[in-house]
Amino acid sequence: MLTLDDISKSFGARRILDRVSWSMDDAARVGLVGLNGAGKTTLLRMVAEETAPDSGRIARPQKSRVGYLAQDAPEMGGRRLLAETLSVLERMHELERRGRELEDLLAREHSGPSHDAALAEYGEVLHELERRDFYSAEARAKAVLFGLGFKEDDLERDVKEFSGGIRMRIALAKLLLDAPDFLMLDEPTNHLDIEARNWLEDYLGAYQGAIIVVSHDRYFLDRVTDRTLELARGHLTEYPGGYSRYLVQRDERYAIEIAAYANQRAEIEHMEAFVSRFRYQASKARLVQSRKSSLKKSTAWNLPRARKSRPRSSSRSVSAARGAWPNSSTRARSTARSRCTTG
Ligand SMILES: Nc1ncnc2c1ncn2[C@@H]1O[C@H](COP(=O)(O)OP(=O)(O)OP(=O)(O)O)[C@@H](O)[C@H]1O
Ligand SMILES: [Mg+2]
Repeated sequence: MLTLDDISKSFGARRILDRVSWSMDDAARVGLVGLNGAGKTTLLRMVAEETAPDSGRIARPQKSRVGYLAQDAPEMGGRRLLAETLSVLERMHELERRGRELEDLLAREHSGPSHDAALAEYGEVLHELERRDFYSAEARAKAVLFGLGFKEDDLERDVKEFSGGIRMRIALAKLLLDAPDFLMLDEPTNHLDIEARNWLEDYLGAYQGAIIVVSHDRYFLDRVTDRTLELARGHLTEYPGGYSRYLVQRDERYAIEIAAYANQRAEIEHMEAFVSRFRYQASKARLVQSRKSSLKKSTAWNLPRARKSRPRSSSRSVSAARGAWPNSSTRARSTARSRCTTG
């Protein structure tokens, strides 16, 4: 379980997250959506501990690992592709070296306290290496690289020869090989062709950990995610289902908001008409006064605005729904099944 507890984050006067609480379980598949600049990247970076919230807490199991694929290509150079990819397992290599040291020690000493301690540590090292599938790392690295479109000939090329887009693929390959418990992907399909996207969809389908993905590829979101987290004006709202289902629910919510707005307008107009018609009649003075005070108390709702939504449609087609981005009102927000509370 990963939990955001009362998180706030601002840049200057701009509030990105406003006392947000939310949680996801260890196998969750979440699509994070919102307008440009809503704060999706900031949220992923906070979960990955690359930036800190201003207040609130992010909690996850003690030994769990978070991995983050940034939206921008990382700098790389000086290593060949396969070595660069495997370098993400550096800690595993260290463990393996430690394992060999312990083997030497155990060959020299056959009893005593240091033997017992070494034996216990050796067991832990082997267990960790096996748990992380270390012995098949090279085969897995190649499978991931080939899945993402690299060829056998590329494996020994220096990574500095590759363009920014290709370096994104390498960063993605490293992350998948590292297999963190919580995988944060920020626009992972931007530099992938269709074959690589299809491969990635299948790969993520069988992924053991939890995933949060930001993507403008709605087909990809539909295939990979089973719930959708909307970030808008500092608040999070969770919807069951992938992106297409989210759009339908969001449109329903929008329709409810429009209807509520129209109802309220009608009510206000009715009261105003009553007041202007009877305001000089002494016999109606009490009723007029009561309408006036109701009018004063009623805070007019804003007309929900329809906005163009992201993600944009991708080159692959999926039952596309129209994009409307309603103003979220707390009243209508209750229509979304939501495990999150805001503000
Ligand atoms: N380090 C920073 N300093 C100041 N402002 C920042 C910083 N990082 C992000 N912002 C601002 O915070 C807002 C949210 O940015 P963020 O990149 O998280 O949005 P986003 O939803 O990922 O956008 P996009 O869809 O374009 O990727 C933007 O207005 C951005 O300019
Ligand atoms: Mg972003």
